[in-house]
Amino acid sequence: MLGRLNHVAIAVPDIKAATAVYRDTLGATVTDEVQQPDHGVTTVFIELPNTKIELLEPMGAESPIAKFLERNGNGGIHHVCYEVEDIIAARDRLIREGARVLGDGEPKIGAHGKPVLFLHPKDFCGTLVELEEA
Ligand code: CO
Repeated sequence: MLGRLNHVAIAVPDIKAATAVYRDTLGATVTDEVQQPDHGVTTVFIELPNTKIELLEPMGAESPIAKFLERNGNGGIHHVCYEVEDIIAARDRLIREGARVLGDGEPKIGAHGKPVLFLHPKDFCGTLVELEEA
């Protein structure tokens, strides 16, 4: 069911500083900042030859990553995103297997304009998993 690793997301308290680390210290190609009010985050993508790193900075106090950053003040790995061919088929299979899909279980449009779902970290080795229809 799982396809490519689409991205690893890192939550950061200061996206400009984090972008500078990847661009200047590590010499990576970085995108412009994009504000995503629907998701409560500002994002920058680090483009690597085989995958991407998604930097996430909270936007507003209601941001879904605000609590994560309270616990991890310097930032940290927040989720991994795997590609699937058919997100509804993937969701239905996971539910049959007893896994928990977060929210109302309906895919939302994610940072790349494609449908995504998030899976409960307790069912996946302590890691928040995002599925994106590729
Ligand atoms: Co993501």
